[in-house]
Amino acid sequence: MKKGERVVVRGLRDVAAAETKISFVEPKGELYYLGYNIDDLVGKVVYPEVAYLLIHKRLPNQQELEEFNANLIAEMKLPDRMIDSIRATPKRCHPMDVLRTEVSRLGECDPENNDLSEAANLRRATRLIARVPTIVATIYRIRLDKPVLAPREEYSFTENFLYMFKGSPPEKAETDVLHRLMILQADHGFNASTFAARVTASTNSDMYSAITSAIGTLKGPLHGGAGEKVMEMLDDIGLEEHVEEYIKGLLDENKKIMGFGHRVYKAEDPRTKHLRGIVRNLCFRDRTTSLCNKCNKIEEIVHDRKKIYPNLDFYAAVAMDALDVPKEFFTPLFASSRVSGWTAHVIEQYEDAVLLRPSSKYIGAFDRKFVPIEKR
Ligand code: SDX
Repeated sequence: MKKGERVVVRGLRDVAAAETKISFVEPKGELYYLGYNIDDLVGKVVYPEVAYLLIHKRLPNQQELEEFNANLIAEMKLPDRMIDSIRATPKRCHPMDVLRTEVSRLGECDPENNDLSEAANLRRATRLIARVPTIVATIYRIRLDKPVLAPREEYSFTENFLYMFKGSPPEKAETDVLHRLMILQADHGFNASTFAARVTASTNSDMYSAITSAIGTLKGPLHGGAGEKVMEMLDDIGLEEHVEEYIKGLLDENKKIMGFGHRVYKAEDPRTKHLRGIVRNLCFRDRTTSLCNKCNKIEEIVHDRKKIYPNLDFYAAVAMDALDVPKEFFTPLFASSRVSGWTAHVIEQYEDAVLLRPSSKYIGAFDRKFVPIEKR
């Protein structure tokens, strides 16, 4: 092989960077968490069961679920200096930027930061699974100049997340939607943010650094940031009758339609049918009904022209809107459940114990003549 000669796989498309037992993204349109098809989980288990499954590699029994739920709720309180720091952050900052900073700060508050044992990392994962949603709720409440709420013992973990975010008693229908949404968003193979977390963990860096890497990566509109762009597009379209002209205009300009396409799936994203069902059941509000009608029309046009399908973010945006979540909080909500997948992958990477360091194909110059600065 010539000096510097390497075979580049652009975007690492279809490159398997490591083995994993956590989730399998089947291109023909199936998704498995630790061997369970998500169709057997969504609507049948609560989100903490899936979070437990991801980090403990098996579903909990009733007692283990109750203990896990109690541990999560116990960890939903943030250190005062974190709340003060969120209060001091300008309200113009994007919630993902604030979340990234505060998760990094969590590392400073970890009482057992030098303990990298498996037991300590499982405790750390549980703390992060509890505190990422808590930070998101705290950012939102402070942005509204509303009191920061503490979890209530009469509520489950997911009910507390909804209560601490919205400030009102969690309704059953909304809690059910949040369980389903968080289960669907929890993990997804070596997506960019999970891979970023694994690269960080592969250097034996700490879990907080790995999750901070993941949050920064999820923010991008090609990845988790797409949901916010989907809602911007749906609102920008205006009336339902404007959909066709608007979308065909974007396609004619070879623009990407946010919420569509996927690096792995060659058929419909298996999460989409669940999300389509969720939003259709929420269409008791005019706004949600109108958004659904626009989405249906967009799906038809885009598939007809590009033979691609909606991904997770397309209908997840409509579901979060129906929960009264403002669009700039869509990606933080995504992070609030994906943190369970990220922490599971970080633990698996520690077990795999290998540095993730690819090569590259050097196409620059060689043997350039050096000229000292006084002669340049
Ligand atoms: C998530 O990896 C994961 O699993 C991510 C995720 C998870 O759970 O973690 O599933 C969550 O991030 C979903 C993706 C959210 N992002 C978006 O919705 C942004 C819009 N989507 C695209 O940018 C794109 O589809 C990607 C980034 C998702 C995938 O990009 P690829 O695999 O690099 O595909 P590509 O850009 O090379 O496109 C292949 C073809 C092209 O057509 P040609 O130029 O070859 O004719 O499909 C077309 C693209 O033009 N295409 C699109 C399109 N996505 C692909 N055309 C219009 N709109 C789109 N959205």
